[in-house]
Amino acid sequence: MPEKHQADTVALAYDRWAPIYDMVFGPVFREGRRAATEAAERIGGRMLEVGVGTGLSLSGYRRDNTIFGMDISAPMLWKARGRVNRQRLGHVGGLAVMDAERLAFPDAAFDVVVAQYVVTAVPNPERALDEFLRVVRPGGEIVITTRVGAETGVRGTIERWLMPVTSKLGWRTEFPWRRYADWAAGAPDARLIERRPLPPLGHFSLVRFVKAERGMKQGSPAKHDPSTFKAMRTTAPHPVLSPEGELP
Ligand SMILES: C[S@@+](CC[C@H](N)C(=O)[O-])C[C@H]1O[C@@H](n2cnc3c(N)ncnc32)[C@H](O)[C@@H]1O
Repeated sequence: MPEKHQADTVALAYDRWAPIYDMVFGPVFREGRRAATEAAERIGGRMLEVGVGTGLSLSGYRRDNTIFGMDISAPMLWKARGRVNRQRLGHVGGLAVMDAERLAFPDAAFDVVVAQYVVTAVPNPERALDEFLRVVRPGGEIVITTRVGAETGVRGTIERWLMPVTSKLGWRTEFPWRRYADWAAGAPDARLIERRPLPPLGHFSLVRFVKAERGMKQGSPAKHDPSTFKAMRTTAPHPVLSPEGELP
């Protein structure tokens, strides 16, 4: 959706949300976060949480997993870092400022990629989904909680009408399921294994894709970019991943 929904606008919106994010969005997405964490832990291992925000979900993972969190908003990550330190979340392997559309990780680096309430916020969701698929190992899973907009009817009209407002706040209201379906249809290694409604009001869903075991997707869309790590080092003082993209 190449509308005015740009990455810097989104980052700025969440920079502003950061001080009050937990109060406003903590309880409302609690059930969805729990469902995503449970699904991710059925695979376990090395997990990437894309758009980790203030780190509300981090304490929900078992300590025998290793979680790496990234987000485009440094102020959101500062909150996450505070939470990691306060709650001594030793299973958090690193936090980094990064763009979901250009993940600075090698192919197949993770057992699970989790993205909670993020896909509809990024300017090019399909590019982000390509990146999730690239960095997850064959047999691993992509676990998403997401808004799914109405395709038709009054709700669909209202959602389209609200788009200019919600874009400025950092997300889309209009996001038909067709976008996931079309992406999966064009991604031979991605297979949809679950889609189920989540509260509030069933306007959100838990969506799971498994990456085919038979091999990597050809022509990875984004190459590892070490400059991303430089940016991350200046903005994310908590455990930082190495500049080469090697995960500890
Ligand atoms: C609705 S919040 C969800 C935060 C957290 N996952 C949760 O469940 O509370 C969306 C998050 O996605 C992040 N985000 C938006 N666009 C992004 C992008 N292109 N790359 C990485 N993170 C992004 C925002 O900064 C924000 O922290």
